[in-house]
Amino acid sequence: MEKAREKVAGRDTGMEEGTEKVDPRDVLFRTVDEHTDVIEAKITGVIPKWISGNFIAVGPGKFEQGAERYRHYFDGMALLMRFEVRDQRVRYASKFLPTVTLTSTACCNIASSTMRFGTGATWVSYILPTNMSDNATVNLVHLGGELYCSGETATIFRINPDSLETLERVELKKLASLDTCVAHAQYDNDGSAYLLGSHFSPPSAYKFIKIPPPDETKRRKIDPTEPVRRAEVVAKVSMQNPLKPSYIHSFAMTDNYFIFVESPLVINILTVTRRKLSALSLYDALEWLEGKNCRIHLVERRSGKESKVRCECPPMLVIHQINAYEHDDNIILDVCCYDDATMLDEYHFEKLLDTSYTPRGLAEPRRLIIPISGATAAAAAATTTTTTAAAAAATTTTAAAAAAATTTTTAAATTTTCEGPMSVAKSC
Ligand SMILES: [Fe+2]
Repeated sequence: MEKAREKVAGRDTGMEEGTEKVDPRDVLFRTVDEHTDVIEAKITGVIPKWISGNFIAVGPGKFEQGAERYRHYFDGMALLMRFEVRDQRVRYASKFLPTVTLTSTACCNIASSTMRFGTGATWVSYILPTNMSDNATVNLVHLGGELYCSGETATIFRINPDSLETLERVELKKLASLDTCVAHAQYDNDGSAYLLGSHFSPPSAYKFIKIPPPDETKRRKIDPTEPVRRAEVVAKVSMQNPLKPSYIHSFAMTDNYFIFVESPLVINILTVTRRKLSALSLYDALEWLEGKNCRIHLVERRSGKESKVRCECPPMLVIHQINAYEHDDNIILDVCCYDDATMLDEYHFEKLLDTSYTPRGLAEPRRLIIPISGATAAAAAATTTTTTAAAAAATTTTAAAAAAATTTTTAAATTTTCEGPMSVAKSC
């Protein structure tokens, strides 16, 4: 293990040719230094001449604070990275996001009092206010013509993609009363961006917010964060249980609908409120409601109202959306999902670093076909589903997928049950 680390750490740009095979755990889960000065990457192979541009990414890059070692991969501190690809060369730079999590010192570790994803708070939480961690390490989103780092909390950071400098810290809690916010935005053709968040205290709700594109005629004269500061709540969805809102990472959007799969993975708000006494992490507050179906919320974008069509499907955890579109009287929703929430547990370092542990929480793509216009659509959906299912089954790899591709709908009711994934492509 130590030998492999030396060889990787010896060159920040990657492995030397001919090095021994390196355990990826040793590369992915170790703390790295930031490189504010650009370094030249060693190239293996040939980069096509036509590839030219900057690839900006964010991800965990530091896994301890003082003597405290983080327990969960999602708690790694956000490191911004830029890969400048030009003239068949790659130049690399990186910079940590100056979050409270990073900038609190070991002797006054404010971060250890915050509610992190999978690492519990320390004794500091007994004497300091406990807020959600601001570690925006998940994604980069374009909002109002600017680039922001996002996590699952309501704090986002505007960054300069050229220098990797952090320019502004923006609290969506103040702008749109959000306690959490998805890490992945959806975009309209006019440049508007949409986010979905949760507001926990009464009147609690899931909220869709719209961030307009920048006004190009005024752009040079105004604050670049102005579009984000004009964030507007365009739709609300009530929670089935305000004390147990669903854990959300992303949502889908079509021309006319927002689509949000409310999964059985919920945040127990009572556990969150007693975190100060119990030094808990967000993971400690998550609950999987055994046997509870997913509720699929369809919200009409034009009116902001939830569709009368209610749709459920068997329990699953949707993390990412693959695609969503309207076809005839259906919404075709392709999602990347899991049977349950085992995956989140498997990102604890005790499992990630255990070479004998075999992960069970594996993702797979699933297709849901959702009728969108009530009883009439439900009847039509049966026909459409048969056709679509047959087509889907032809492209899937298992006979079981074809068997799973069935939908039952009740024409007389407004609740539709999508029985099982419409197609399951396990090979993807
Ligand atoms: Fe994500």
